[in-house]
Amino acid sequence: MSSAPSVFNLAGKTALVTGAGSGIGQAIARALAAAGARVWVVDRDSAAGEATAAALRTASAAAEFALLDVSSEPEALALAARLDAVDILVNNAGIGHVGNLTATTAADLDRLHAVNVRGPFNLCKAFVPGMLARGRGSVINLASVGGVVAVRDRLAYTATKHAVVGLTRALALDHSHTGVRFNAICPGRVETPFVQARIAEYPDPAKAYREMASTQLNGRMARPDEIAASALYLASDEAAMVTGSCLMIDGGWTAGK
Ligand SMILES: NC(=O)c1ccc[n+]([C@@H]2O[C@H](COP(=O)([O-])OP(=O)(O)OC[C@H]3O[C@@H](n4cnc5c(N)ncnc54)[C@H](O)[C@@H]3O)[C@@H](O)[C@H]2O)c1
Repeated sequence: MSSAPSVFNLAGKTALVTGAGSGIGQAIARALAAAGARVWVVDRDSAAGEATAAALRTASAAAEFALLDVSSEPEALALAARLDAVDILVNNAGIGHVGNLTATTAADLDRLHAVNVRGPFNLCKAFVPGMLARGRGSVINLASVGGVVAVRDRLAYTATKHAVVGLTRALALDHSHTGVRFNAICPGRVETPFVQARIAEYPDPAKAYREMASTQLNGRMARPDEIAASALYLASDEAAMVTGSCLMIDGGWTAGK
């Protein structure tokens, strides 16, 4: 888990990344740590989260694991009460569901909403007041291309990721002039365990992989570190002018067709 030195300097800052036990969150935790931030690795999977934090420490970073299910507001508030100031909050934990209206139940929608929407909301309720009191902070929410356009057969995912974009914009608007910035990252397809699990649900996984890669105009999926680079920028003081934005990291998916 080695990382090249970063052009951004986050020394003296503390970051918290949810869902950092895997995929994009793990890559973001690695990038923020390489830039000098102290990182709280947060996940509901303690084995995965502990492993990420241990790997970061092996790479000489200051990293610790905290167990949290982001869908629980009491757990989020209890974590905030236990930690020192958090300057960078990355709401990355998210789950998916393959299905159109017929193949999506109300329970599926509620399950995705609890993690994808209530999750970032809960973490903001817990950590944004401290940022506002200190007059600085960066909140980064992982949305998706599904936050700005519909993704076929992803009804619940599209709906919840649109809500993440709305949440981000509302937070940015309500907290302008505070020094706290709120932005969303909208990746296309990124090769992570999340996507590999979805691909495995198809009758012909190899065909599904080719089709998913082809939705990017450049014909390939992103690597997690390519998404982490955008989180690093949004976390840094170089992005001081950036709030309320949705950064598309989608290989041109939403540019047109
Ligand atoms: N992979 C993609 O192609 C892609 C594309 C667009 C957006 N995204 C978004 O990026 C984020 C990360 O995706 P990924 O592909 O790295 O996923 P992943 O499944 O590889 O990792 C997600 C991590 O979040 C954790 N998690 C899940 N629910 C949680 C909860 N309730 N509380 C705490 N932790 C929880 C999991 O244990 C896991 O470690 C998600 O929000 C996803 O919607 C992913």
